[in-house]
Amino acid sequence: MAMTSQAPADKPLLAALRGEPQWPRPAWLMRQAGRYLPEYRQLRADKGGFLDLCDDPAAATEVTLQPIRRYGFDGSILFSDILTIPRALGQDLHFSAGEGPVLGRLPDQASMMDHLDGGEATARLAPAYDALGLIRAALPTQTTLIGFAGAPWTLATYMIEGGASKSYPQTKAMAYGAPEQFRALMAFLIRSVADHLIAQIAAGADAVMVFDSWAGSLDARAQVDWSAGPLAAVTARIRQVHPDVPVILFPRRAPHAAQALAGQHPLVTLQVDFADDLASAAALPFSAVQGNLDPGRLLAGRGEIQHATQAVLNAVPRTRSHVFNLGHGILKETDPDAVHAVLEIIRG
Ligand code: CP3
Repeated sequence: MAMTSQAPADKPLLAALRGEPQWPRPAWLMRQAGRYLPEYRQLRADKGGFLDLCDDPAAATEVTLQPIRRYGFDGSILFSDILTIPRALGQDLHFSAGEGPVLGRLPDQASMMDHLDGGEATARLAPAYDALGLIRAALPTQTTLIGFAGAPWTLATYMIEGGASKSYPQTKAMAYGAPEQFRALMAFLIRSVADHLIAQIAAGADAVMVFDSWAGSLDARAQVDWSAGPLAAVTARIRQVHPDVPVILFPRRAPHAAQALAGQHPLVTLQVDFADDLASAAALPFSAVQGNLDPGRLLAGRGEIQHATQAVLNAVPRTRSHVFNLGHGILKETDPDAVHAVLEIIRG
């Protein structure tokens, strides 16, 4: 019984992701483990840094469970990062204070292929799989465990720019100016991302989420080619191995990508950014919608937080499956008590 998932009926979030409306709405928050929690800041200081937490399965497990203990969310997301894939493919990665991620130069394709085929990539990602097993064993049975990865487009932007960027000049120069080279990189990332998600499911994840955080930087045609296309390809590869596992896709601020993905695969939930209209997203043919409270609303007083939460709930009819979440990650400035105000409204 240890590694098998509970029946969906026992896990409200999993049932919602399968398209069965639940009441109260299941809830979890993007970046629910992290710097807004004092217990996280303490453990990070003790362990050295963010990547040290990701690389230590016991520490990653502890951080993953912190928000579950505090709030009893319906979903628990593995504590890790999307940039562990580029690192596993041989690209240097570090986080510098205040600057965000800094990546070394992009390895050539042959070298990345060696990392993938030689098993080095799997070995470097093993702490995530080990953590999932530990989390699975420690979670309440009704809590859904979510694995995740970055989408090929978003990973490509970090790998090619070497870090965060405002306009992605080098990535776009390659995508539009050297399409053969870019297509090869994307094909390779589709495989790496799908392999990582399939391994997370084998390690205990009930569902997986793919973050295309920078899909909104693309024009309409490229949203279809470089966000929706790779997201659908990743989903298809997962489905060959795990036909029943729900997939949550987040083509962030990319309505043309969402439109292109609608109805393509069963058991797909659309995560909606706070800048997009949740009611319209709920009308698209996905199993469920997830979102979309502006995390900035949590910086207001209790009354405003509860009003804004209610508005999100009201946007989706009871007949449609809705997973409550933020529209993007919780801000580090958030008062941990603000989350209780949100949950009080959701749980009635
Ligand atoms: O949601 C969760 O609780 C799970 C953990 C998680 C993290 N990153 C932990 C993290 C998840 C799902 C991610 C995804 C991620 N990482 C994305 C996609 C989601 C999004 O926000 O759009 C992206 C773009 C990244 C890349 C990344 N990681 C950046 C740009 C940064 C630095 C920015 C920042 O907030 O400092 C990170 C670091 C990071 N990843 C932190 C956490 C908790 C902060 C590390 C710390 O200072 O302790």
